Amino acid sequence: MANQFEYKSFTDDNHYIQLCAEVMAIRARAEQPMACIRTYGCQQNVADSEKIKGMLFEMGFGFTDNADEADFILFNTCAVREHAEDRVFGNVGALKNIKRRHPSVIIGLCGCMMEQKHVTDRLYRSFPFVNLVFGTHSLHHFPELFYNAVTYGKRVYETGIDDKTVYEGIPTRRDGQFKGWLPIMYGCNNFCTYCIVPYTRGRERSRRFEDVVREARTMIESGYKEITLLGQNVNSYGKNLEENVTFAQLLSEIDKIDGDYILRFMTSHPKDCSKELIDVIAGSRHISTHLHLPFQSGSNRVLKAMNRSYTREKYLDIINYAKEKIPGVSLTSDIIVGFPGETYEEFCETLSLIREVEFTSLFTFIYSPREGTPAAKMPDPYTHEEKSKWFSELLRVQEEIAAKRCASMVGQTVRVLVEGKTDKDGILTSRTSGNIIVDFPGDEALVGSFVNVKITKARNWILNGELADQ
Ligand code: 5AD
Ligand code: SF4
Repeated sequence: MANQFEYKSFTDDNHYIQLCAEVMAIRARAEQPMACIRTYGCQQNVADSEKIKGMLFEMGFGFTDNADEADFILFNTCAVREHAEDRVFGNVGALKNIKRRHPSVIIGLCGCMMEQKHVTDRLYRSFPFVNLVFGTHSLHHFPELFYNAVTYGKRVYETGIDDKTVYEGIPTRRDGQFKGWLPIMYGCNNFCTYCIVPYTRGRERSRRFEDVVREARTMIESGYKEITLLGQNVNSYGKNLEENVTFAQLLSEIDKIDGDYILRFMTSHPKDCSKELIDVIAGSRHISTHLHLPFQSGSNRVLKAMNRSYTREKYLDIINYAKEKIPGVSLTSDIIVGFPGETYEEFCETLSLIREVEFTSLFTFIYSPREGTPAAKMPDPYTHEEKSKWFSELLRVQEEIAAKRCASMVGQTVRVLVEGKTDKDGILTSRTSGNIIVDFPGDEALVGSFVNVKITKARNWILNGELADQ
């Protein structure tokens, strides 16, 4: 089978970067043009923002968190839940004053929300001071769009899904010095009935095997200590590729690269999570002993209505296999409370599942209807108040489980990556392979390196420790 998608090189048409650099050198309010990029939502958005920053950097931009001193303000938006959308509209409204003070500022919006017509219609109607709007499929086009927005003085809108092409070679400016995201695929084919992502990011496209491995090698060689492979459903990596490769094979190929680093990945989908993958983790040198495997609901009826394509039993089967093969495996999950029509009894099946698995931590969400998804049309008889009560019950149960899990680690010596300083003087913060935070006293010079730490105390889901023999 040939690759189903076309692979193109960004460097073939990036002369707009030079043009933007020339025009911004003249237009900038200070010596150097400044950009303020605010990112909402998931890691995929963070990774996209890092590419936009890469292109802006090549145009000569510096970066600031202060929107008032920026020549370009960009919000990279998320459409997964209503709350995130409301925040974006509120924050865009607030930019009007900045535009009044500094009329030359270019205001842009991009990301998943921009792939929803009702959103772009509202923006066009109600926020005329927004100069540039582009969707998730226009990243490679950003320099040209930006140039047009700056020079034509008209609003530039480019949205719409082109999920036939994968662009390689877009410059990236990573936020982290030693922790980095590495997208391995884009889009999603699963159409879970509550989820907007397949509509905003299009069909699933895997990057080529050798391109991913090469980027991982470059990151490791340039000092990255933690690499997280990203995709909406990493377990189906490779399905559109000519070569017959699986995600497990990709992980195991990267794991062969020598160096002092940890390899993470997210997000896994239980329907495609193979035992082969668990075996690769169990036998690896660098892969974290952490599996983020969202189950969303513990009820088979609800799972079916969500179109998740697995059952509670199949989920537990893979979890039990992971527990057996990866000693001390740390499990996390995403959960939706109050999917349309979910009853309290069905919600209790979610509770019983989390008790059975004993997750390290959970990302929990109250169902949020998304226009255009099948679930948004389903009868939803329970009130938000009722769902909020269930939600609080879930948090209480998980708190107990996390506390017990963390307490069981006291006395152990674990290897951690030191991530930075805490607010407290002389206390560093770090993360175990299982993705659990450990704070301990130590010298700032340790930031960015791996050390052994003995766990002395558990504080709910955070651990305290002290440096152990190295
Ligand atoms: N409502 C609530 N939570 C959602 N998620 C995705 N769509 C919705 C929605 N409409 C959650 C899922 C997913 C995580 C990234 O966000 O749990 O795994
Ligand atoms: Fe959304 Fe489901 Fe795809 Fe995850 S797997 S992005 S929840 S459709």
